[in-house]
Amino acid sequence: MKATVLIPAAGTGRRMGGSVNKQYLELAGKPILAHTLTLFENHPQVENIYVIVPIDDIAYCQKNIIDRFKFNKVQRIIAGGVERQDSVRNGLNAITEDGFNQQCRPILIHDGARPLFDCKRLSALIEAVEESGACTVGVPVKDTIKDVENKTITGSPDRSRLWQAQTPQGFQYHLIMEAFDRADADGFVATDDASLVERLGHPVQMLEGDYRNIKVTTPEDILVAVALLGGRT
Ligand code: C5P
Repeated sequence: MKATVLIPAAGTGRRMGGSVNKQYLELAGKPILAHTLTLFENHPQVENIYVIVPIDDIAYCQKNIIDRFKFNKVQRIIAGGVERQDSVRNGLNAITEDGFNQQCRPILIHDGARPLFDCKRLSALIEAVEESGACTVGVPVKDTIKDVENKTITGSPDRSRLWQAQTPQGFQYHLIMEAFDRADADGFVATDDASLVERLGHPVQMLEGDYRNIKVTTPEDILVAVALLGGRT
């Protein structure tokens, strides 16, 4: 079955500073969000895409991203929420309303701020979702990670077990809906979607991605993203 993609891009970009929403910054001649959408627009296993932006950006996004770059697979632009999890929830509700709610349909959730995902990995991700229900891409951490409280280290987890979670993260429709319903009922909020499925007790596979798939978050990320995109074009 073909996949549906949700692109949460409704963050405020607080850590970027400046007044322009980061996903509209142009890198290598194209806004970040347009780079991200191109990855999925061109993939044969993607049926449709939902883009989630702040409510006040919907008209801007339609005109300057979707219409300008002629993205045919964008089903709808949805208003985001306060937290990332609220934004994704709004996207899931839209999928349900539009009838793309077959139990096993792969739902892929990918940050709008990650324009450098290598789409060659998408087929493997979808296959893992079909087989096991839930899978995320990620990379082993390179640095030693510390737990810190009040500026003092309280723990040093074993690095050989630590991975950085990236997106896309993919889930069968019934599983991600159950995970969100449970999180809502419990008032649980997390910074990624896999966390919600993990707490159901359902295993989530880790598919090794690559270090280029950065999330453009702070100003120095722009320099890295320009270098990496430049190398690609
Ligand atoms: O805040 P964070 O860096 O985790 O954001 C990851 C992605 O989630 C970004 O693409 C951002 O635009 C999106 N987001 C959202 N709604 C929010 C906060 C973040 O769609 N309320």
